[in-house]
Amino acid sequence: MNKKTIKDIDLKGKKVFVRCDFNVPMDENQNIVDNNRIVAALPTIQYLLEQNCKIILASHLGRPKGEFKLEYSLAPVAKELSKLLNKEIIMAKDVIGEDAMQKAENLKEGEILLLENVRFHKEETENDPEFSKKLASMAEIFVNDAFGTAHRAHSSTTGIAEYIPAVSGFLIEKELKFLGNAINNPERPFVAILGGAKVSDKIEVIDNLLEKVDTLIIGGGMAYTFFKAQGYEVGKSICELDKLDLAKHLMEKAKQKGVKLLLPIDTKIAKEGTAEAESKTVKCTEIPADWEGLDIGEETINLFIEEIKKAKTVVWNGPLGLFEVEQFAEGTNAIANALAQIHATTIIGGGDSAAAIKKAGVEDKVTHVSTGGGASLEFLEGKELPGITALIEN
Ligand code: 3PG
Repeated sequence: MNKKTIKDIDLKGKKVFVRCDFNVPMDENQNIVDNNRIVAALPTIQYLLEQNCKIILASHLGRPKGEFKLEYSLAPVAKELSKLLNKEIIMAKDVIGEDAMQKAENLKEGEILLLENVRFHKEETENDPEFSKKLASMAEIFVNDAFGTAHRAHSSTTGIAEYIPAVSGFLIEKELKFLGNAINNPERPFVAILGGAKVSDKIEVIDNLLEKVDTLIIGGGMAYTFFKAQGYEVGKSICELDKLDLAKHLMEKAKQKGVKLLLPIDTKIAKEGTAEAESKTVKCTEIPADWEGLDIGEETINLFIEEIKKAKTVVWNGPLGLFEVEQFAEGTNAIANALAQIHATTIIGGGDSAAAIKKAGVEDKVTHVSTGGGASLEFLEGKELPGITALIEN
């Protein structure tokens, strides 16, 4: 990464504004269901504590659309952070209001203040210069460690960097190292596995990866658009009829680039995607009219695993079936377990695949699980991430 990190500047005793991505899933009682993103922010916070910094933490949570809403408060995050660090976290009642400003002003070395959800102000997502300036006025240095939000050009991710020196934290550094090496300097064979419901969400990822990989495995709901494009019936399976030409184009591109494109051979089908639904496995080219494909079949699992075993680098993004329902989670689980067993660099591209890896209990057995959903997708698309661009060049 050609950007400065917290290791490259003198931070001793400084007041730092740290943008984290504490956008964690919560249940209806505001209990944190998965604290991964909070845990991932700890190395940076701990380093800043060692440097005796006065630490101001900021994040968004959900999409409250510029209004204060209790269910989007970061208070549960303050509690969790306090537990993880075994340390008091001072919680501000607002973001740039009197309470936050005063608490930021009075902050002492080694203390941590957490601001309220930055998206309680619509100016945050508008990247409003006045709002950015106000955030910047609280601190001397901006540390961006919110990889999950690095694809958003918002006040607390990019705007603030116009007013105070901006460097990255350890999480952003780590994410870029793993994702960047995998994409730009992979040990080969390099295999990418793409799943998820829609082709339209992954067009640019497929397009970009076809320039880089040796093998591209496609599963999940989006595989059916590729079958339809080849003239097969797909029953009630997810299929984007307006993307058939595009699917044909991508298959053609794979051929031209000499990339091995693997689609499923068989599929587990049902009349609906429920736990109780009757299911059976058929060839992908023989899906009956009122049935839908909801997982990859046994033959496909074996085919994909054989290919994965040959890989030296694997990037995986998107589940291979409706993995939230146990009877359609077999394919996704099998891929997660296969990745855990091979001797290769294995990178999980965040979002649903990260959840699947966790559910399979193998998150410690893969090389890197990204904290970015949309951000890791945009990275795989080859796009620049504004939250990274805004940092000082090294
Ligand atoms: C995410 O969960 O992908 C990030 O926190 C970004 O959230 P957003 O899509 O609401 O900007």
